[in-house]
Amino acid sequence: MSFQVACEADLEPGNARAVTLNNSEGAELTIAVIRDTEGDWYAIDDTCPHGEVSLAEGDIGAACVECWAHSAEFDLRTGEETLPATSPVKTYPVKLVDQSVLVDLDN
Ligand code: FES
Repeated sequence: MSFQVACEADLEPGNARAVTLNNSEGAELTIAVIRDTEGDWYAIDDTCPHGEVSLAEGDIGAACVECWAHSAEFDLRTGEETLPATSPVKTYPVKLVDQSVLVDLDN
C-alpha cells in the first residue's frame, strides 16, 4: 500500500485531528494529521513518546507541535523531539488530492 485517504482537508491552520488507519501489514496506527500555523500539512504518530497522550491535542506552531502534558516539542518535518521527551515521533509523507489528505503509512 502507499498513499491512503486519512481525512478531509478541512482543518484550519493551527489545528489537528487524530485518525486511526491500517498500514499494508494490517497494523492499526493512530496518527495526528496536522495543519500547522503556516497552512502546511503533516502526519506524525499521534502518541507522545514521553507520556502516551495525544499530540493532536497539543499546541501547534510553524512546523512543530508542543505536547500539552509536559511541553516537549516535536519537529513536524523530522519528528525530532525536545526534552522531556527522549525519543522522536515517526513522520509520514502527506499529499492533498481533491480536498482529501492522503498519507503513506508504509514510508
Ligand atoms: S506526555 Fe508529552 S511531554 Fe510528557
